[in-house]
Parts: sequence; structure tokens; C-alpha cells
Amino acid sequence: MTRSASLLIDNIGELTTNDDAGGGRLHDAAVLIERDRIAWVGAAADAPAADERVDAAGRAVLPGWVDSHTHLVFAGDRTAEFEARMAGEAYAAGGINVTVEATRAATDAALEANLERLVAEARRGGTTTIETKTGYGLTVRDEQRAAVIAGRHVDAVTFLGAHVVPAGADPEGYLDLVTGPMLDAVAPHVSAVDVFCERGAFDEAATERVLAAAGRAGLATRVHGNQLGHGPGVRLAVGAGSLSVDHLGFLSEDDVSALADSWAEWSGGSGRRGTVATVLPACDLSTRMPLAPARALLDAGAVLAIASNANPGTSYTSSMAFCVATAVLQMGVTVQEAVRAATLGGAIALGMDRDGWRDPSGAEQGAVGVVAPGARADLQLLDAPSVTHLAYRPGMPLVQGVWRAGQRIV
Ligand code: NIG
Repeated sequence: MTRSASLLIDNIGELTTNDDAGGGRLHDAAVLIERDRIAWVGAAADAPAADERVDAAGRAVLPGWVDSHTHLVFAGDRTAEFEARMAGEAYAAGGINVTVEATRAATDAALEANLERLVAEARRGGTTTIETKTGYGLTVRDEQRAAVIAGRHVDAVTFLGAHVVPAGADPEGYLDLVTGPMLDAVAPHVSAVDVFCERGAFDEAATERVLAAAGRAGLATRVHGNQLGHGPGVRLAVGAGSLSVDHLGFLSEDDVSALADSWAEWSGGSGRRGTVATVLPACDLSTRMPLAPARALLDAGAVLAIASNANPGTSYTSSMAFCVATAVLQMGVTVQEAVRAATLGGAIALGMDRDGWRDPSGAEQGAVGVVAPGARADLQLLDAPSVTHLAYRPGMPLVQGVWRAGQRIV
């Protein structure tokens, strides 16, 4: 779709800005977009002229979703595993190797076509920023090609060579590969390194090695932690200054405090940002694992993100609206808290809440997850008067318009 030099989205009934200076929300508002950025935000009565005008007719506008945790570079399908799980079998991460086998066997073109399909699905649902991970290749060649393909379609790529030890590999030798030649090959194509710290994946010592190697390579880190049981994931992530620790179904009081304290220290001038607590409601449901304690995390003062964890094993959905509704209906957070976590929270988890971050092509981008002058013009228009309808009318296709970098994509 074409883009005018300036566009006014006018007559907005409820505008979620996430801009704390203005209370985070405006009524009877308008937003002016110039090229790829937001140029002005304010009362509809004061709206400036523009080349083009969209009448929101009293509906709700909010930032596009920022999906900070997905695994979209894969081939194959795990319907049988899902059916077995619904029949009572427990999720134990073993299915990752099924996807690894299918992914290795796929051509570049097939992987890219599947990724494009999934990104298009996410965009139709209002998602304007997507992080995705490697992690279904687990050889130097397959991890590198996953990172290169992903970088052509998403906003941030994370190296997840430390997903599981591939079938038949020696654990120590594989760790040497992941923290050595594989990291060297993939590092130019990614902005962060992730590690699955869990029984059956990587233990405390291995996780520490992966995080240290990432630090030496100058890359940010994330941790998959506390998904299948209690463990050291949160502690290690906070200790390493990771951007986020994700999953969090099994948290001790110390884990919750550590996540909250990491932000209290930042506010107190530590100079190091805290670690975002990323919860993945669709994954918790699909694996029938405990729901992450999002309410307790917020009450303690942690910074919360909500993400889809779209992947073929544990969460085959990219619907952020579904995740937001689940967080509200099942995790005890308010709609406003859930929307903030699925937009600004994700942006903080990706280090994209401030202007000047670079996408995989190296292009400089405006902040995402906020509606404020200078931010990237990423917006969604709902066919509803308020964001409350996201939880009040769960599962309904409420997204009526989506703009990404000022361009209308839905
Ligand atoms: O985030 N926890 C590890 N990785 C994915 C699962 C991937 C899979 O089972 O294929 C997750 O849930």
C-alpha cells in the first residue's frame, strides 16, 4: 500500500500511548504520522492538517504488538505430539529434535516461505515488531542460515544454538561448538544469544558458559528459564544482566524479588537495566503447565512482557490478542497492564523502547511500543471502543487497521 507524506489518524476514542508523562492513555485524540515516524500526538480538537486523514470514528488505537519471543524458522509440524499431550502426555522438550530434523532437511526457499507465512499471520493480528530465534538447526551451517533468513523478515534475530543438545551429539562437545565456532559464524547476523536453562536442556554450568561466551562476543543475552520446573534460570539471567528471562512458570519468592530488584537498582542509578520477566500465556496453556505468576511479578515491581512464543511445539499461535486475553482472564492482570506488557514490555525486552536501535539490515529505527513523537509509526486500530474489548470479546477478530513504520499493512 502507498504512503502519503503525512497521515492523520483522527477521532480516536481511546488512544493507548504508554507515554507515562501523559498518563499512558488519551481520549478523543489524534496521531500525526510523517513518513515512518510519529510526528504529533494530542487532542483531536487540536489536530494539525495532513495530506491524508483516517477517521477512527471513536474506536481504540494502540501501539502495534511487540512480540519479543518467537521461534519462526522451522519446517514440519508437531500435530501428533500435541494430540498426545492433550491425551495426557507431559511436555518434555524432546520434540524439539523432531523439528530440528525437519528443518535441516528443508531447503532455504521452503524455510523462508514458511517464515513469510507466519510473519504475515502475525502482522494481520496487529503485530508490528517481531523477534525470532534460531534453534532448530543446531549445526553451524543450519544455525547460520536460519539467522540469515530470519534477518530478512523480522526486527531482531536471537541465536539459540543452546536450545537442546542435538540427537546423537556429545553434550560437552556440543557446548564447545555452540560457544565457539557456531557462535562465531552466527554472531554477525544476530543481536542476542539465548539459552534454554532447564533439566533436559542446559544446566547451570552450561548456561553460564553460554552467557559468558555471548558477553565476549559483545551480544546481549536472554534465557529460557523456569519453564518445566524450579531452577537457576532467573538467577543466572539477572546475574548476567540479560535483557529478559522467559517462561517463568515455576518461580520462587527469591526469583520474583531478583527480577523486581533488578529494576529497583536501575531506578536507583545502577547504570545497568534490569531483566524483563517475559510470560508466554499461550505456551502455558498449550503445554498444560502452570501459568506464570504475572500478578505477583507486577506487584513486586518487575517489568513484565507478554509474548506469543510462536513455535511448532509448545505454542503454535502468533496471536498476541489471545495472549493478552489469557493474561487478563487467567493471570489476574488488568487489560491495561496486559496491553502495556505486550507492547512496551516487549520493546524493553528487546532494547527497542528508545530511538536509535538498528534492525538486522543495520537501518536505524524509532522506538516501538509507544505512541509519542519520534517513535516508529506502528499502530493498530481496533473495531472496538476500548482495549477492554480484547479480553471482553476474546477470540474475536478486532484488528481493523495496522500501520508499520507509517505504512498501512492491514
Ligand atoms: O520456548 N523452551 C524451549 N523452546 C521452545 C519450545 C520449542 C519446541 O518444543 O519446539 C519454547 O517453548
